[in-house]
Amino acid sequence: MVKVAKRTEKITYAIRDVVVEADKVKKQGHDILNLNIGDPNVFGHKPPEALIEAVTQAMKDNKNGYAHSMGVEEAREAILKEAERKGIKSDVDSIITTTGASEGITLVMQALVNSGENILTPCPGYPLYNALTNLLEAEHNHYMMDENNQWQPDVDDMKKKINDKTKGVVIINPNNPTGALYSKQTLQEIIDFANEHDLVIFSDEIYDKLVFDGEQYHSSAALSDDVPIVTFGGLSKNFVAPGWRAGWMIFSGAENEINPLREAVSKLARARLCAPHPFQYAIKPALEHYQHFAEEMRDKMQINRDIIYKSLNKIEGMSCVKPKGAFYAFPKIEKEITDDKKWVIDLLHKKHILAVHGTGFGYPTPDHFRVVFLAHPEQLEEACRKIGEFVSRE
Ligand SMILES: Cc1ncc(COP(=O)(O)O)c(C=O)c1O
Repeated sequence: MVKVAKRTEKITYAIRDVVVEADKVKKQGHDILNLNIGDPNVFGHKPPEALIEAVTQAMKDNKNGYAHSMGVEEAREAILKEAERKGIKSDVDSIITTTGASEGITLVMQALVNSGENILTPCPGYPLYNALTNLLEAEHNHYMMDENNQWQPDVDDMKKKINDKTKGVVIINPNNPTGALYSKQTLQEIIDFANEHDLVIFSDEIYDKLVFDGEQYHSSAALSDDVPIVTFGGLSKNFVAPGWRAGWMIFSGAENEINPLREAVSKLARARLCAPHPFQYAIKPALEHYQHFAEEMRDKMQINRDIIYKSLNKIEGMSCVKPKGAFYAFPKIEKEITDDKKWVIDLLHKKHILAVHGTGFGYPTPDHFRVVFLAHPEQLEEACRKIGEFVSRE
């Protein structure tokens, strides 16, 4: 029997783990409404035809070989212009295209964190950061998001959690799993704190165009020219193409501060050869000609958000903070429950709705779950009605 490395032992990914149980229910002949996965395509959303054509044309033009490790030039230039639109000061040499934002996050974590060190990560938070912490044999260090303050990061908690092994802080804005949008003031406080303690900011902005109610989006790197910040983005969510794995990262901050990290990440990027080549040709048209597509996606998600927010809050024994961006809500089950995973699995078996338990996002108490609101409005209404029935009969 092969003895696998210990570092894989604690790797879990709740979003996909619950699917194993859903497959069993499917085999019994039931249709499942998947509210578990942040993949727009599963719910019938499609990327713009012109982007598909750009990728197809790239393949026909034989862009099928390896790309440059830093990425295709025209894509990087388009990302730089996009960064400038967001108010970020950077340059083409500080931009690397990646196999989704996920790979960028992985490379920066690998380049920055030694075993035994830590990164401040949000709680609840996106599971990739916890998985990487385990893989790098680093220490978990979670700061709380405050449900009583619209799920804004609790900066005081961050301050309490920092120690001499802390190397960075992760910001997910708009947030998965809470749908929170961070205020300029919160971001500024985090930047000041990072500056004071020499931390690198990981600014995960994969949902940056899905911001509701006409609110202004603030990119962390636009608020500081000095603090070392890596901003992550991509086509997965805003442009509905997660399977293309077209992502990027942008390094910014004082040259002497950010340079060693950028160089270390560039070395790792060379070792992994390149991001998928033909798909990088969709980046320029997306960012230069299809902003309206992302806006339409945002408008659809805002309609869905309204349904979810209203319907969940109508259910006795449930409350939900209003999501301000992305396509997630993180409602609270007010009834006393001891096992949220069991609650989610019961919901699946009894109502054929698949959500993800809050503890799967690292939340400490078993009384939340995450809902993805990418499905059609009617399906979301039906799902909320069934969740209501489930809660009232428990
Ligand atoms: C916060 C966050 N970051 C990163 C990712 C992964 O993005 P990509 O598909 O570009 O790897 C996701 C996907 O759900 C996410 O929610």
